[in-house]
Amino acid sequence: MFENDEFVCRHMQLTKGDIVRVIREKELTSFSEIQDETDAGTICGTCVADIEEILEEELERRKSIGN
Ligand code: FES
Repeated sequence: MFENDEFVCRHMQLTKGDIVRVIREKELTSFSEIQDETDAGTICGTCVADIEEILEEELERRKSIGN
């Protein structure tokens, strides 16, 4: 589990908060959309699984608030 101000993708300097923000603002639903928006995971790729996990959490949350 990441804190909001913790780096998830160190190469692109993206914190969990940054990733959550882009998912919410642009209503993203897939990792490839996040990658298009942020270039996350394009250097070493070790952050991909963590970003997918954050996306899952967000999608669950979106479902639970019915939107
Ligand atoms: S940590 Fe995300 S590409 Fe390297």
